[in-house]
Amino acid sequence: MGIFAGGEFAGLGINYLNTASQTKPVVLHGGDIVAASRQYNIAVDQWVDLSTGLNPQAYPVEEIPQEVFTRLPYELPDLCQAAADYYGNEDVMAVSGTQLAIQCLPQCLPQFDILAPKVGYQEHVLHWANSGVNISYYPALEMKVAVECIEQKLMHNPQRHLLIINPNNPTGLKFTPQQIKLWASRLAKGCYVIVDEAFMDMSPQHSVLADLSTNMIVLRSFGKFFGLAGLRLGFVFANQDIRQALQQKTGLWAVNGPAQHVAIKALHDKSWQQQARKDIHKSASLTRDIFSHLFTHILPDRVHHEALFSSYYLPNTLGEQLVDFFAHRGILIRKIAVDEKICLLRTGIIHHQDFDSQERVKQCIQDFIVSQIS
Ligand SMILES: Cc1ncc(COP(=O)(O)O)c(C=O)c1O
Repeated sequence: MGIFAGGEFAGLGINYLNTASQTKPVVLHGGDIVAASRQYNIAVDQWVDLSTGLNPQAYPVEEIPQEVFTRLPYELPDLCQAAADYYGNEDVMAVSGTQLAIQCLPQCLPQFDILAPKVGYQEHVLHWANSGVNISYYPALEMKVAVECIEQKLMHNPQRHLLIINPNNPTGLKFTPQQIKLWASRLAKGCYVIVDEAFMDMSPQHSVLADLSTNMIVLRSFGKFFGLAGLRLGFVFANQDIRQALQQKTGLWAVNGPAQHVAIKALHDKSWQQQARKDIHKSASLTRDIFSHLFTHILPDRVHHEALFSSYYLPNTLGEQLVDFFAHRGILIRKIAVDEKICLLRTGIIHHQDFDSQERVKQCIQDFIVSQIS
């Protein structure tokens, strides 16, 4: 399939899109059922999509009044208030997905180097690289190694931005808010810690938002926990200068009316949120059990479980084989390269009441095991 062709860059999941006129770096993402459907010739509605870390039971979107579509979408004060209440910080602005902030931030911050996780959501690194700054990396698999490396690099040169993905997608590495704040205090003037908390809704006690320093920027994706990635909504918490710079980049009417309307309701809906947390835990535990059958046969080097996804460390070739085997049976999972040898096989969660998907995944795992024996 066209866009999946091309060489991988430094094992980081950044591939090159070859077009007639140019070669552009692109990052491969999960959730592209249309592309998978074309590649494997399986209808879009026949897939079990475990390639993302989205809540499989999204916030229910009820009928939206006509005027929500017809009015120009100025940012509603109610949206900022609902976000401030839900996330616990008032220094907020809404964006049409944190992806947009990730794309714009390199142009809003002083042009210092950045220290970033070696494995993580690669859009950050891609856009910092496009802005021409120098990127250095810290390992993102083990806490002790990561902390030591960050300490050492900041001591050597504190004049750089620091990117933290907390918890890291896909490795699950999670620093304490105290640790992150300490690093922020060590950075040179004009440098920022960017904390991407896309998957923090399931453990909000680990968020840095309760006590934000002026040189910290926090990204909170709305799409993951609320399961509404298609709505395109996210929030940025930062000092006023950064928010203004970002606002200038994102422009007028950046968040559409329906997204604002749905989010105000969802952010206030405490009882849905409580139930969603319970359901996600139940679904996550059930999904782990289902996959444990596979991973007692092929032993991963290590495993990490987050509430909305699990990551299994495997040799690259085995990871590729599994993705392909599952995809031929209409089940989409993701392989994320760590280096030339090792990859992370990442699986999202199956809803605990989605019995059909559970059966299909169980059958697929059984077929894979049998195929290995025969
Ligand atoms: C860690 C992380 N940050 C940010 C994003 C962007 O999400 P969104 O633009 O939907 O807020 C993603 C998407 O998968 C992600 O995994």
